[in-house]
Amino acid sequence: MSKICVIGTGYVGLVTGTCFADLGNEVICLDIDHERIASLKAGQMPIYEPGLEQLVKQNVAAERLFFTTDYAIALKDAEYAFIAVGTPSGNDGEADLRYVRSAAEAIADHVKNAILVINKSTVPVGTGDWVADVINRRRHGKALNFSVVSNPEFLREGSAINDFMNPDRVVLGSEDQSAADRVAQLYQPLRCTIMTTDLRTAEMIKYASNAFLATRISFINEIANICEELGADVREVARGMGLDKRIGPQFLDAGLGWGGSCFPKDVKALEHMAVLHGTQPQLLQAVMEINRNQRRRAVMKLRKSLKTLNEKTIGVLGIAFKPNTDDIRDAAAIELIHLLQNEGAQIKAYDPQAMENASHVLKNVVLCENPYQVAEGADALVLATEWNEFKQLDFKKLKSIMKQAVILDGRNLWDASALKDLGFTYMGIGRYHLPGK
Ligand code: UGA
Repeated sequence: MSKICVIGTGYVGLVTGTCFADLGNEVICLDIDHERIASLKAGQMPIYEPGLEQLVKQNVAAERLFFTTDYAIALKDAEYAFIAVGTPSGNDGEADLRYVRSAAEAIADHVKNAILVINKSTVPVGTGDWVADVINRRRHGKALNFSVVSNPEFLREGSAINDFMNPDRVVLGSEDQSAADRVAQLYQPLRCTIMTTDLRTAEMIKYASNAFLATRISFINEIANICEELGADVREVARGMGLDKRIGPQFLDAGLGWGGSCFPKDVKALEHMAVLHGTQPQLLQAVMEINRNQRRRAVMKLRKSLKTLNEKTIGVLGIAFKPNTDDIRDAAAIELIHLLQNEGAQIKAYDPQAMENASHVLKNVVLCENPYQVAEGADALVLATEWNEFKQLDFKKLKSIMKQAVILDGRNLWDASALKDLGFTYMGIGRYHLPGK
């Protein structure tokens, strides 16, 4: 059993803290947001993540998981301090490190004994060294026995607990091998591959991994667009490609492009770091441009099919950036809705989990209670997020209540030929030119 403090109760911090508690450690999760900590103490989750609420409750009841806003309490006996605070994007893509700085300063102020400082936040390459500097400077020459370890996270929203408990790998970067080994001990129960390397390389692995996954998606989206012109079906193309073990099947789903709190921020930050240091990240720039285009293309398809978008009613199914989350940050649906509104369209929308978040961001959108309300009177229906509950809709009913039977399946979820048989004009991504399909 180790004593762990996790600073930041966002996605990463809360999942990491809860899972370490579940592995038998004593974990205190700290956040400076009093309201958030009060809710967590009352058993209310700040985010929707399958399985999280139950795991938090179990570990709180077992007295292995605690919440506080007080650094002195959180760091008093901690052997490990995980920094898992937000690193928002500045205007030019540069990561904003103010929360990392205050976490590092709090460690300098409150830690009495030796401590391992583990960076879980996604931070620019070189930040691990900077954190050590911040701590040392803050101590004004009063030495503190600590080492910094970079431990990038690879959790996906919607499957974060499973990803934590069954990782493909754990990456640890440090200039102090014994520090990395001690952090590795925390992960031993997971019986996974643990890779240790230097600090900067670990930080880079995180950016490179996310940028590569985003690249795969932009690649298949570009192929999808070519498929549309040449009459091939991108889903079959992806399947055929994915059977090659060197390529593999994952992250080859064409659609409205990638969103969320990670890919957009991290690809931009990597591009920014590259430009700042005098290299030309041409591929990263193209990856981002293709992603932006994917939403514009969707609008173009709708405009073409409906002749004009002005005063047309468009129903949007799914607002979250992907299924099983209520996160709408950089969601394709949000951008799509704004683009459609710019052309004078009226929007109705529904999401199984993200309605509250959406209500803070979307203006002049009719927020509905189910897909059928969305479809009522709509000139077109767009699927933006492939939630399970959208898989088996009553399309006959939808057709009878829509003004025009036009569907843009932005995630290639539905059976195009069945919908065409029902009389819908069906548009998918990278497949809709195929005769009879
Ligand atoms: C991503 C990475 O997958 C995680 O490994 C990483 O830890 C995380 O970012 C992070 O840096 O914190 P996440 O953003 O939760 O995880 O979601 P993904 O499942 O990766 O999906 C990202 C976006 O890509 C979504 O908008 C999704 O709809 C889209 N996507 C994904 C596609 O369009 N096609 C695909 O084939 C896969």
